[in-house]
Amino acid sequence: MKRTKIILGLLVLAITATMLSTSCASNKKDVLYGCDSTSIVSYSKIIKPLLDNNCNSCHSTAAAMSIGGGTILDDSTGIKNWTDTTGGNIPGLWNVCSKENTYPNRMPKNATPLSDCDVLKIKNWIYQGTNFNN
Ligand code: HEC
Repeated sequence: MKRTKIILGLLVLAITATMLSTSCASNKKDVLYGCDSTSIVSYSKIIKPLLDNNCNSCHSTAAAMSIGGGTILDDSTGIKNWTDTTGGNIPGLWNVCSKENTYPNRMPKNATPLSDCDVLKIKNWIYQGTNFNN
């Protein structure tokens, strides 16, 4: 009797472990693309395409002066104006997109807000050191 219980217990454990590992596998894409707090977010693979697709219609060097309020987000110099975290400063590049936004306008301006996952990618990339070479 005891042995059956132990075997049953092991079986339940094995099934739970399998279920847990498959549910993680389905989140793999998010993990790969930097939606957890540990994986490194790539500028060239993640941040640049994100800014190009959602922001740079207004914030490219060419467009910024006329329709982007002068904020340039298609080169590192322009981006660095909005990534300062020193002294507990909340970096603007993340702040303007987040739900807790303290700027008057949430970005992207007059468009659907970024997904939580995309906002987290921006935050992680900044707090991981704003690395343009990865
Ligand atoms: C339709 C045009 C447009 C799009 C798209 C857009 N912005 Fe903006 N953005 C503006 C304008 C215009 C301003 C100037 C302030 C204002 O009018 O709200 C601005 C200002 C900013 C600022 C400076 C905030 C300040 O204090 O002046 C940042 C940072 C910013 N945008 C980031 C972004 C990011 C990140 C995205 C994409 C997720 C984005 N913007 C998408 C038009 C746009």
